Amino acid sequence: MNIAAPASPDLFARAGAPYHGGTFKTQLLKWVGSKQRQAPAIIKYFPAVFNTYLEPFLGSGGILGALSPRQAIAGDTFAPLVQIWQALATQPDTLKAWYAERHALIAAHGKEQAYADVLEQYNQSPNGADLVFLCRACYGGVVRFRKADGYMSTPCGPHDPIAPESFSKRVDAWVERTRGTQFIRADFRETMDRARRGDLVYCDPPYADSQAILYGAQDFSLATLFETVQKCKERGVFVALSIDGSKYSGAKLCNLPIPDGLFEHEYFIEIGRSMLKRFQMDGRTLEAHGVADRLLLTY
Ligand SMILES: C[S@@+](CC[C@H](N)C(=O)[O-])C[C@H]1O[C@@H](n2cnc3c(N)ncnc32)[C@H](O)[C@@H]1O
Repeated sequence: MNIAAPASPDLFARAGAPYHGGTFKTQLLKWVGSKQRQAPAIIKYFPAVFNTYLEPFLGSGGILGALSPRQAIAGDTFAPLVQIWQALATQPDTLKAWYAERHALIAAHGKEQAYADVLEQYNQSPNGADLVFLCRACYGGVVRFRKADGYMSTPCGPHDPIAPESFSKRVDAWVERTRGTQFIRADFRETMDRARRGDLVYCDPPYADSQAILYGAQDFSLATLFETVQKCKERGVFVALSIDGSKYSGAKLCNLPIPDGLFEHEYFIEIGRSMLKRFQMDGRTLEAHGVADRLLLTY
């Protein structure tokens, strides 16, 4: 299969997947590992022509929002997060209200107390309505969970969370950009199994060593991911996979169980400064020393 990589933005327009990566900076959710800033650098390596776009590790949808594909399936295993995305797609006014109601607690009780109350409510019963406020108000947008039981423990941030009016505008912008997207709560295998010949899958998996405490102890195996990528490739699906060069560096990188011949190309993507650099978590420093993500392509 001959695909020009990197593809130029006008090729995306011809493929029916208008490319807006260079201009879309509106962030809906704050999320560790968001790829929104790197989106143009990553998207330029996508095939010039593809059918459905699938993103099995959606997180805050940094690539999905920038790409704004005509037809897409986006999945994540984290239920409260998927509730937010599904509300965006089917009840955007409800999503706006979730944020506004919780933001109103700031005027009533002060920011710290409002945050503590919403956090307590969330930890009693994790849900999207609380998470959307917490991710915008928490320290550095680093939503993190206690590994043992999924308890969210991030403290309140020093900043003022954006006003409900501003959040509502962001919702409107994201509704437009994700009109063709179906959001599902699913393990990556389930999402990737839906990919057919000519579709494009972009994977941005968690990193086993550090991100387990950020996203909770979800079932994730890199070896299984590679097997699933292999099956996609055999079906004629294009797969692009981001691997964080900073966390898989040196000897560790060599130990990655990448099957021979699975990937055809590898590119280094500038990531600039990592969010994780700035935070001390439970006495451990999650540092990202590297400056480049790797993008592996099966095409
Ligand atoms: C590195 S983040 C993705 C960040 C995303 N690219 C963005 O721009 O925000 C990885 C995501 O994978 C999800 N995840 C973890 N294990 C998963 C699994 N087994 N299947 C699907 N999603 C999973 C996490 O909930 C998290 O949202």
